[in-house]
Amino acid sequence: MMAIKTMKISVIKSDLDRVDADLLALPLSSDALKKQAEKTFEIFGFDPKILKDFKAEAGEIVVLYAGSKKISASRVALLGLGEGKTIDDWRKAAVAFASKAVDMKLETVAVDCSGIETLAAAASQSIAALAATIVEGCFVGSYRFDRLKSGKLDKKKSAQKSKEIDELILRVDAEVVNEVEKGVAEGTIVGSCQKMARDMVNLPGNYLEAEDISKAAVESGKKHGYDVTVFHKKEIESLGMGGLLAVNKGSFHPPTFTVLDYKPKDKAKLVVALVGKGVTFDSGGISLKPSENMGEMKSDMSGAASVLGAVEAAARLGLPLHVIGLIPATDNMPSGTAQKPGDVITTYSGITVEVGNTDAEGRLILADALTYGKEKYKPDVIIDLATLTGACIVALGYAVAGLFSNNDKLADEIYQAGQQSGEKVWRMPLWDVYDEQIKSDVADVSNTGGRGAGSVTAAKFLEKFIDGHKNWAHIDIAGPSFQPKGAGKVNGGTGFGVSLLVELLKKWS
Ligand code: BES
Ligand code: MN
Ligand code: ZN
Repeated sequence: MMAIKTMKISVIKSDLDRVDADLLALPLSSDALKKQAEKTFEIFGFDPKILKDFKAEAGEIVVLYAGSKKISASRVALLGLGEGKTIDDWRKAAVAFASKAVDMKLETVAVDCSGIETLAAAASQSIAALAATIVEGCFVGSYRFDRLKSGKLDKKKSAQKSKEIDELILRVDAEVVNEVEKGVAEGTIVGSCQKMARDMVNLPGNYLEAEDISKAAVESGKKHGYDVTVFHKKEIESLGMGGLLAVNKGSFHPPTFTVLDYKPKDKAKLVVALVGKGVTFDSGGISLKPSENMGEMKSDMSGAASVLGAVEAAARLGLPLHVIGLIPATDNMPSGTAQKPGDVITTYSGITVEVGNTDAEGRLILADALTYGKEKYKPDVIIDLATLTGACIVALGYAVAGLFSNNDKLADEIYQAGQQSGEKVWRMPLWDVYDEQIKSDVADVSNTGGRGAGSVTAAKFLEKFIDGHKNWAHIDIAGPSFQPKGAGKVNGGTGFGVSLLVELLKKWS
């Protein structure tokens, strides 16, 4: 992985007309637009006729050039907040603003956060949480994946010139500087960890093998002070991780199993295990996928990327939790040595699996990691993130993840964390009726469950490998982790899960 350059963020108290930036955003709710727009416009000398064109819908932007009055910013953006009553309104606005700035090739941008206390209250947020969301939104909106364009492949050159924003300035009232700075610090950590995850997801299979995921984890651990252990093929064999080895059988590249281990200085309040699917490319194996859009399967390690991002964020935030990340990684390839449909394999748990379809590989590698994590760390809670099933996309689309849990309280906490982070999840059932579908005549369980309820039978399969743990959740991120071409302005990896997991970990802190 190449070095990550991050946006500089400053919090300043200067007068609004003295904020020096290429673009200064004035966030306006539809209500504020009616009540105070004319007053605001007077400061800048704008013609109120603009109100005919600008309705302050969330994410709506009009860029204006200073009129009769002299101000320091070269341009001003009216930035719509909709009603400004939800955190989603703010996130949408921040994303749109940063994206616009990048499209305009601007380097220094500012957001007017005057009156943030009132604005935060209107959206039922703390000042710090709102500031964090603005910062996170700017990370999301300014992200572009251009490092594989020929001009950027030269590492030195790319360090000199990036399309992303150089500096983000938040203008605030003096009384709230500390609160805002706290939010900025958090938003910066979450934003940059999410960006790291997106980069990993966007890197194609020939740039990111299992070994590269492990290396990225080792690097992050060294930099941010947590332990990382990498199990290589020999060790994976000695451990008897038959699921991971079976999926790797057709591959030229060896598998890895990476364990990230962040411990707080003081006694941990909880032990949390996070498991992430790390299939660096999923061809389907012998049960080969159709070739159309197969390239999108470079994103089949999104769960791994988000787990790495979340553990790094936990370490950088110094959360009082013991957080363990478990990442089984391999590609899934067809070859003469590949596993075959009908094969029966023995997983790390000892449970045997009939491989009905080699394309249902994620659950095989997750099975080993789940059992290992439960046995070795005795976690209070286990959460896995995986791009597990196309069926989950059929059910919930590209914006929402499927949530499966054997614990109502945990499910509710994850749902709430999703509402706050904007990474929405919707709960699906784990009833025993679905067990029928994954019965096997020859082994303990089958890795395929037939046509109906594909994302549920996949989750039921995983449930067999947590060894009766009472506080487990599985999040199927197949849809929201990667936006296919044409889905939105910025396609590709989203880092879905980093922000949600951090929100959840913070709640437990
Ligand atoms: N990685 C895929 C799931 C997927 C599909 C993720 C589309 C993102 C977009 C997974 O390994 C898979 O192939 N699942 C199969 C399971 C089936 C063979 C039981 C699927 O969903 O078709
Ligand atoms: Mn597959
Ligand atoms: Zn897969």
